[in-house]
Amino acid sequence: MENSSKIKTIRAIVREINFEGCSLLSINDLTNDQIYQLFELGKLLEPWNRSRIDLATGSVMSTLFFQPSTRTRMSFETAMHRLGGDVISEANPLVTSSAAKEESLADMLRVVSKYANIIVMRHFNAEEARSAAPYSESPIVNGGWGHWEHPTQALLDLYTLYRTYGKIEGLKVCVASADLIEARTGHSMAQGLARLGAKVTLATQKSRRTPQEVLDKLGAYGTRVQEEFDLTQDSFNELISDMDMVYLPGCSAPKGPEAEAFKKVMDNYYVRYETLDKVQHDENRTIFVTHTLPRRAGEMDLRIDNSSSQLYFEAIAYSVSIRMALIASILGL
Ligand code: CP
Repeated sequence: MENSSKIKTIRAIVREINFEGCSLLSINDLTNDQIYQLFELGKLLEPWNRSRIDLATGSVMSTLFFQPSTRTRMSFETAMHRLGGDVISEANPLVTSSAAKEESLADMLRVVSKYANIIVMRHFNAEEARSAAPYSESPIVNGGWGHWEHPTQALLDLYTLYRTYGKIEGLKVCVASADLIEARTGHSMAQGLARLGAKVTLATQKSRRTPQEVLDKLGAYGTRVQEEFDLTQDSFNELISDMDMVYLPGCSAPKGPEAEAFKKVMDNYYVRYETLDKVQHDENRTIFVTHTLPRRAGEMDLRIDNSSSQLYFEAIAYSVSIRMALIASILGL
């Protein structure tokens, strides 16, 4: 297909998605059809992952990151540059913006939305971010808010899974972490997977179980969601040997006196290379592993990096085109 006809197709899909001017605060702000249409658009945009298609000329994206980030901020900024748009960024607003002078988040969003056509924000406090969002005159994308949700991480991981298998329905996915209370990517991903018909298993400590709000939503989708608590490293590896994918949302480990005890618990959710290798050889079946990154030492065997199971670096490339698709849809390009 020539570029001009590809651009026509891109614009037609953007219209079909019908998400112009909408904010993405939760993965549930998108319908299943919209998610699949975004996948289609992401695939069409993949050829421009490393070049530029001038669809967003004259539009400005603001990235406001109140917490550190490598992937989310840089891939959104890359996506906007690849679409030919411009970016204004605050990577440390508590130091370098007037938030340091106690300007409220609501005022900041009112002001920044006068400059930017779209805002991508990461914030440490989900309640504060959710209350301030309506003050923005431009659509807002949640780039990770508190412990609540990180919907575009889920979108890119779902897209990676879709590009790997060509489907999501029926896949068996284990979302595993020593702490699923604070796993905002896990919350968004589990809901996205369940909605698209995957069989989801949540493996964690009973004391750090997935929040009830998320479990209630998972229940409402009518998909079978299984919870596995307090596994040992042996039983965890036995569990994942039956999966199509292991999803590691990571977790923030405590510092100080609790650090050693937590490390022992984390060790129970360690993905062994031998587990994946055995299934590959005995059953000729690949168990894919993805981690939202950044990862910590002791979460998985690093030999997985060079195996066919590794999806976490593949996801980085996919993140640009799916975020290009999302920006194009929100801006109605
Ligand atoms: N996965 C993710 O959100 O990474 P960053 O914290 O680097 O953005």
